Amino acid sequence: MPSIFFFSDQSIGGDDKQNMMKTTYFDHAASSWPKPPQVAQAVGKWVEDNGANPGRGSHRLAMDASRIIYDCRWNLADLLGVKNPLDIAFTANATMALNMALSGYLREGDHVISTELEHNSVRRPLEWLKRTRGVEVTYVPADRKGNIDLTALADAFRKNTRLAAVSHGSNVLGSILQVGEIGEMCRKKGVRLLVDAAQTAGALPIDVEKMNIDLLAFPGHKGLLGLQGTGGLYISPEIDLEPFMYGGTGGFSEETGQPDVRPDRYEAGTLNTPGIAGLNEGVKVVLQEGTEAIHRREWELSQLLMEGLMQVEGLELLGPSLGEARTGTVSFLLPKMDPSEMGMILDKSYGIAVRTGLHCSPLSHQTAGTLGSGAVRASIGFSTTRDEVVYVIQAVQEIARTYRD
Ligand SMILES: Cc1ncc(COP(=O)(O)O)c(C=O)c1O
Repeated sequence: MPSIFFFSDQSIGGDDKQNMMKTTYFDHAASSWPKPPQVAQAVGKWVEDNGANPGRGSHRLAMDASRIIYDCRWNLADLLGVKNPLDIAFTANATMALNMALSGYLREGDHVISTELEHNSVRRPLEWLKRTRGVEVTYVPADRKGNIDLTALADAFRKNTRLAAVSHGSNVLGSILQVGEIGEMCRKKGVRLLVDAAQTAGALPIDVEKMNIDLLAFPGHKGLLGLQGTGGLYISPEIDLEPFMYGGTGGFSEETGQPDVRPDRYEAGTLNTPGIAGLNEGVKVVLQEGTEAIHRREWELSQLLMEGLMQVEGLELLGPSLGEARTGTVSFLLPKMDPSEMGMILDKSYGIAVRTGLHCSPLSHQTAGTLGSGAVRASIGFSTTRDEVVYVIQAVQEIARTYRD
């Protein structure tokens, strides 16, 4: 494990600080780290023992590659309540999955309901589809804490509405959207639902059947504990999505068109087998632990973090209040202190990794009233400990004191 270490003459107790001289990682909303050891072991083992293309060859190594991918697809289906694992296509990240869903489903003149909490990975493809296909988009408002106005969402349906595209969890405010209720509304109106589960896959219970989700985009490198370069899209069997990429699939080679059979239809080109071998182990850890237990633990740590930060004079916490539902993402601001300065001091003087700025979601910052400043985002994940949370609280308290004096 790398250890970056900087020191300052700050006054946090010697032992505590020495113990934290390795990186204290609070950027799980971007990518989770450290990964469970079995993830790295599976990737290393793959690279050493095999290197063949899955689905492209009848030799033993190619079959082993296919088996790992099959196994991961099955485990993902188990986790996400997907009936047929072949309805899950692997992608390079959540952004690719979202682009596949939006551009493969939306046609000239369609209307989409989205929200003011979306990441640029939803907003930019939608804006591109507005410009190029005349797609119409309504961004349903959210309040400052990141709650969507469900009445406004219900009022947004039009005759030409074909899709609702919503985040499950805000990557800035940590709020959780009522995907179940939105799914019910969509089902009644005959409108399909795309959910961006970038912040929740592996960290919150998700069941595509129970929640009426037709398309679910997820990254492998966040709550599912896999490597960067992995992700996926669940595509309901009722939807015939136009493929995003065309090319070789290892089978049906005599056909000039992309095969109809899933998942081949959506997986042109060689897959990231080493990444998927690692992701499979991450998913197994999540399945073993259970998303309810993971969420409960991360929520408790978020409450501890919030309670500690609330002791800092003038500090503004964004998102849901103490005691309310949220993910492990806690964003905050100190009056008159630039968030990027706070981020830099946390990194250089305390070895604490947080994210600052607009977090690829200017809409959410606009909603929270922080578009001009951005915020400091401390995000808790699977590997976060209580001691680490206490250390972050002490560091922020100390920086605030020093800054004030
Ligand atoms: C809400 C949300 N959507 C989409 C993405 C994009 O995910 P990826 O980096 O896997 O493409 C992120 C990444 O942080 C996110 O937070």
